[in-house]
Amino acid sequence: MSGTSIDAVDAVLVSFSGSIEIIESHSLPISAHLKNTILSLCSPGDNEIDRSGKLDRELGLLFSRCVIGLCKKANIDTEDIEAIGSHGQTIRHTPCGQHPFTLQISDPNTIAEVTGITTVADFRRRDIAAGGQGAPLVPAFHEAIFKSKDNNRVIVNVGGMANITLLSQSKSTPVIGYDTGPGNVLLDYWINNKKALDFDNNGEWASSGKVCPPLLKNLLNEPYLQLPPPKSTGRELFNADWLNQHLTSFSGISDADIQCTIAELTAQTIANSIKQCDSKLGTNTVDEVFICGGGAKNDYLRKRIQDLLPEKTVTTTIQLGLEPDLVEATAFAWLAYRTINHLNGSLASVTGAKGDRVLGGIYLAR
Ligand SMILES: Nc1ncnc2c1ncn2[C@@H]1O[C@H](COP(=O)(O)OP(=O)(O)OP(=O)(O)O)[C@@H](O)[C@H]1O
Ligand SMILES: [Mg+2]
Repeated sequence: MSGTSIDAVDAVLVSFSGSIEIIESHSLPISAHLKNTILSLCSPGDNEIDRSGKLDRELGLLFSRCVIGLCKKANIDTEDIEAIGSHGQTIRHTPCGQHPFTLQISDPNTIAEVTGITTVADFRRRDIAAGGQGAPLVPAFHEAIFKSKDNNRVIVNVGGMANITLLSQSKSTPVIGYDTGPGNVLLDYWINNKKALDFDNNGEWASSGKVCPPLLKNLLNEPYLQLPPPKSTGRELFNADWLNQHLTSFSGISDADIQCTIAELTAQTIANSIKQCDSKLGTNTVDEVFICGGGAKNDYLRKRIQDLLPEKTVTTTIQLGLEPDLVEATAFAWLAYRTINHLNGSLASVTGAKGDRVLGGIYLAR
């Protein structure tokens, strides 16, 4: 797994015999140079076919190294791994328009060849072909592992973008899930631009500033945020240009106040979406909120989400027995398990597709 933050390649070794059990995890950093190569393909530019073909192969090799490192760490022979689920790196996600498409690269042929392990990849495009958004795909996994008979829960993944999953305690309420808007992507961009840091550790810089209400209002006016689900988004919309365009109407705001206002944008768009979930539950409301993804480590962001939702318990998926950092990668191991067993991986109630589908392509081991 490597998400829209483009921070690292994350791998988990998961057993599905009996309950879902995480055996080991491993992560490889993405160098600044490689991140720039990926970013340069996230928006239209020259010579894209050649550049994406080469990057596809380069990422295939990097993902393979990550899997081999994971197996070594776990002391498990690659021959004992049934399959790899490889999300790939998204370089374009345009789920609306006349010919909607989404593109994740990290050549699965290379991964199968180098690791000798059957590889499942290209999870999103079948859902798009069935009329869906192709995203988010993690809600089905959230339902499989986090649903409770006693409480209404929302799982929030704060990656580059943020997405929520509503898991009603009642069987009859379908799972709802969508991208709420930016997660860490704008926070990472602003601190990198101003302080040359990769991210705002624990949200310390944001918490040192003050929210600028007119700027926040301006950011919250983004039409995507008002759209009803199903919906999904990416760096095509929420990127440096988007932020800088909004900033042009403002002057005299300190850099720390801007960081604080961006954090508030993430917190409020997540909290507002969770409040909207309450209305889907009839007389009930969401009881518990569990955060996962890298943003779960941002103490300030978590605190703001809790402050905005005083009647709900806001914690992380650690409370449910799964490390926040590992949820997304575990979801794609689970999706590969579903595909290998010819089981549906997507939820039409989430993506808006014509139906649930078995996702991805299978690249057999030697
Ligand atoms: N200690 C921390 N404090 C604040 N933010 C953190 C911390 N650790 C990680 N992060 C944030 O988490 C991000 C990485 O999160 P994650 O890997 O879940 O995102 P992702 O790769 O975009 O995943 P996806 O798009 O699949 O959800 C980093 O870019 C950073 O912004
Ligand atoms: Mg990541």
